[in-house]
Amino acid sequence: MSNSNHQSSSVGLVVRGLRKSFDGQEVLKGIDFEVRPGEIFVMMGPSGSGKSVLLKHLIGLEEADAGEILINGESITTPEIAAKYRMALVFQSGALLNSLTVGENVGLYLTEHRLKSPGEIQQIVAEKLEDVGLREAMNKMPGELSGGMKKRAAIARALVIEPQLILYDEPTSELDPLSSVVIGNEILNLNRRTHVTSFVVSHDRDLAFGVADRIAVIVDGRIVTIGTPDEVKNFNDPLVQKFLHADFKRET
Ligand SMILES: Nc1ncnc2c1ncn2[C@@H]1O[C@H](COP(=O)(O)OP(=O)(O)OP(=O)(O)O)[C@@H](O)[C@H]1O
Ligand SMILES: [Mg+2]
Repeated sequence: MSNSNHQSSSVGLVVRGLRKSFDGQEVLKGIDFEVRPGEIFVMMGPSGSGKSVLLKHLIGLEEADAGEILINGESITTPEIAAKYRMALVFQSGALLNSLTVGENVGLYLTEHRLKSPGEIQQIVAEKLEDVGLREAMNKMPGELSGGMKKRAAIARALVIEPQLILYDEPTSELDPLSSVVIGNEILNLNRRTHVTSFVVSHDRDLAFGVADRIAVIVDGRIVTIGTPDEVKNFNDPLVQKFLHADFKRET
């Protein structure tokens, strides 16, 4: 288990007044929230509410029209500051390379950057796969894995940089309910073991209420409420309640 020296290095994330428009259509309408060091924070909201656009700003793929993003109080708009912190994104699709084994995928970053000897890389990869319960899949090809295993391999790959902040994009999309719970537990265990600050973007209500220390609900580019799962569940707002209780209607 790689439960080494993370405790002291958890980072806090602050987003203030973030705005973004595409072709005159405002998608982020002034987003404010704070993720405390070591917590699991879930940004939950319906399709099209701006979750992925927000995530793109956090990893530097989009530039905001206004507002700021701070890690440990430092604005990450300059590459020098952004490079100071170890941030990992677990992609929605897993994004594994099909021509490499699972182990090679997990170790790819270290291999490409020649950061360690092959023996050390082998050891780190085994450790990270062990952390997500995939040790036996090291020599398999991605095509031989189930959807849930692919997501776990993607988490293992994110772990090789020993992240201080881990971002998950829809970690349970395309998974059955049981596999979703397995991934949720993985997110939870990883956070409790390493105290990595965890930011999850999802429209999965069960996941949000199952793993979050705090939840923000985003609707149409605005955060409607932020609180503990209990506070959000009881928040008396039609937009929030509509999202939380959306259900099928059967005509009789
Ligand atoms: N590059 C872009 N150019 C123009 N519009 C965009 C761009 N990226 C996103 N949008 C628009 O921004 C809005 C929010 O999109 P976003 O992908 O953030 O939604 P989401 O909350 O992630 O939804 P989902 O839950 O379906 O993933 C949508 O109306 C989308 O069409
Ligand atoms: Mg999205």
